[in-house]
Amino acid sequence: MDNISIALDGPAGAGKSTIAKIIAKRKNLTYIDTGAMYRAIALKILREGIDIDKEESIQKVLSASSIDLEGNDIFLDGQLVTEEIRTPKVNNFVSHVARIPLVRMKMVELQRSIAANKNVIMDGRDIGTYVIPNATYKFYLTASIEERAKRRFIELRDKGFDTTIEIVKEEIKNRDKIDIEREFAPLRKAEDAIEIDTTGKSIEDVVEEILNYMK
Ligand code: C5P
Repeated sequence: MDNISIALDGPAGAGKSTIAKIIAKRKNLTYIDTGAMYRAIALKILREGIDIDKEESIQKVLSASSIDLEGNDIFLDGQLVTEEIRTPKVNNFVSHVARIPLVRMKMVELQRSIAANKNVIMDGRDIGTYVIPNATYKFYLTASIEERAKRRFIELRDKGFDTTIEIVKEEIKNRDKIDIEREFAPLRKAEDAIEIDTTGKSIEDVVEEILNYMK
């Protein structure tokens, strides 16, 4: 039998990773957090102060880096960075890195190799349109900007970051704009994806809605 693959795309804060983790557990699928991979390479570029406009430097950092997903954790060059990739500093920088074609090509290659011969749920921006265009199921999650900002604000506040809903809203808006406007594999709903607006819905409601489509 063919492997099952679920593509879950959408803008920042739409609830993709929370939902994907639950569905992965219920359906015994491997969860692949592609955003975490872009965040990890962005973290390395930040740490090393690399100039992202220099193609040679990007090439060098990509070939000298290892990114591994293990369960819900991510390792950069063998070091656990699950928490560090979610700081405001990385939030503000990651889309600038993710728009570079060289970076995307490397990450997509990695994503496809992790997904090969496995039943997977992958979340990101270009999964249904580019990474696995023949996915078994495709979903596109959205929510109002107010709700998305509120969710991210609560997450950051709970981790102890000093921020405001307004600041988070601006960060999300900027990130979405860069993700939508980039040339290579931008954030876009695949034509055959099912769109789910999660505004005002509980996590459990959205999980059930998705599982219903998969029956
Ligand atoms: O999903 P998450 O918010 O962690 O993604 C962080 C960033 O990584 C996105 O804003 C986007 O710039 C980039 N990304 C991407 N393609 C993906 C997943 C994430 O460009 N498939």
